[in-house]
Amino acid sequence: MYEDLRKELETFERRTPKSAQAHKRNLKRIPLGVASNYRAYDPYPIFVKEGQGSHFRDLDGNDYLDHNLCFGALMAGHCHPAVMKAVEKRLHTGTMFGMPHDMEWELAEEICQRFPIEMLRFGSSGTEATMHAVRLARAATGRDKILKFEGAYHGLHDSALVSVNPKPAEGYGDIHAPNPVPAGLGVPKAAVANLVIASFNDLSSVELRFKQNPGAIAAIILEPILMNVGLCIPERGFLNGLREIATKNGALLIFDEVKTGAKLGWGGASEYFGVKPDMICLAKSIGGGFPLAAFGTHRPVMDLISQHKVFHGGTYNTNPVSMAAGLAMFREVLTRESYAHVNKLSKKLVEGYRKTVAKVGLQAYVASAGANGALMLYPREIRNYRDWLEIDIDLWRHYWFGMVNRGIMAQPYWWDEQWTISVQHTEADIDNHLAAFEDVAPALAKAQQERAAEAVAHLQKSRSAICPAMILQIMSVRSSSLI
Ligand SMILES: Cc1ncc(COP(=O)(O)O)c(C=O)c1O
Repeated sequence: MYEDLRKELETFERRTPKSAQAHKRNLKRIPLGVASNYRAYDPYPIFVKEGQGSHFRDLDGNDYLDHNLCFGALMAGHCHPAVMKAVEKRLHTGTMFGMPHDMEWELAEEICQRFPIEMLRFGSSGTEATMHAVRLARAATGRDKILKFEGAYHGLHDSALVSVNPKPAEGYGDIHAPNPVPAGLGVPKAAVANLVIASFNDLSSVELRFKQNPGAIAAIILEPILMNVGLCIPERGFLNGLREIATKNGALLIFDEVKTGAKLGWGGASEYFGVKPDMICLAKSIGGGFPLAAFGTHRPVMDLISQHKVFHGGTYNTNPVSMAAGLAMFREVLTRESYAHVNKLSKKLVEGYRKTVAKVGLQAYVASAGANGALMLYPREIRNYRDWLEIDIDLWRHYWFGMVNRGIMAQPYWWDEQWTISVQHTEADIDNHLAAFEDVAPALAKAQQERAAEAVAHLQKSRSAICPAMILQIMSVRSSSLI
């Protein structure tokens, strides 16, 4: 670990002793001391006390500008007044019935007006939405295999927990025909065998998979923007190409819009990119801070549920509290005006970052789409998961802890994530964010240059011939200490 990173970590530990203590206590009863593996990181995660608007406070009373926003689930920001008002009213009139009510029709109408689907069912999490979408696709086609992209995350069920973050040592295979790699123990071999993996932004790898599995692939599932690798934008023609390949092969195209649905724009990815999927999965930000999800598609496919051919249920489905929050989101929060506001802030943030990156000579770029963005510590734009693997993790940690120590949670912890700008963020918030980055960036650039020079010196010492391509490679070498 290099000196400037060590100093940031020391500052972090000095500022957050109560989080350290709380984590230590949690570890006694809860694996990793956290409720989701994604929340664990070294030396320990920040424990939160309360949030309001675009900010939250930790147990030690430190205030943070929040661009984590529950891994992007809070486009509304914390405690949005419209959501709170709707929810408070419901809290006094019954929170669960397990019976139908009139908000179901209202919210279904709202969603079907924005997204190109005819019917939908509700659930509580993104995992549920993608799980049911995949099952429906299998039922509709009579096929078992699902094509997903290497590095994509679609939740925690067996059909999704494959090739999420595979390593070369796990035998991830050729980039044009990656091997399916289970993301941990307990995923049945049969589930792995039913996953066909392709490379994002590589239509030929998708074509190849269909050729190798004739009449066997039920659906292509993807995030229209790959968001498990920072932010990886689809190249021109990629989504249209997938649309064509799916149609040609009788497979369904599933857009997992758990992240993009509410954050990319008013009509989600299909509106943003002008490509119509067959199925859409929604969750996270549509609930305004409450557990709410939906999956939907054409009527003939949803009729498989109507005809009792495909089973769908759930005790918490359409509980009135989440539904009230969802209605407030679609009617009062996720408005065209809100998207205009967030887009304006996003432009300001991105331009500010770019200016600083250029000024300090950092080898990095800024990717952004809708409410999301990320500082990508790469010499050139990534196209897929394997490009993303090549990152200097210590440098990324330097960025993240440096920002946190200056009161800015620039994004969730982990270099596969991205920032979210909520409707409650302000111009002043963005100014503060940019000021913190300006403060951290020179040290980042210095560390990056020194680490590259050290690597070059090391290579020269070992008498290897150096060419520019190798230097680039060295600069983006992945630290293995945390993987
Ligand atoms: C694209 C995508 N799909 C599905 C999921 C799973 O959602 P949940 O955590 O609500 O189960 C996530 C969660 O991060 C996601 O980002």
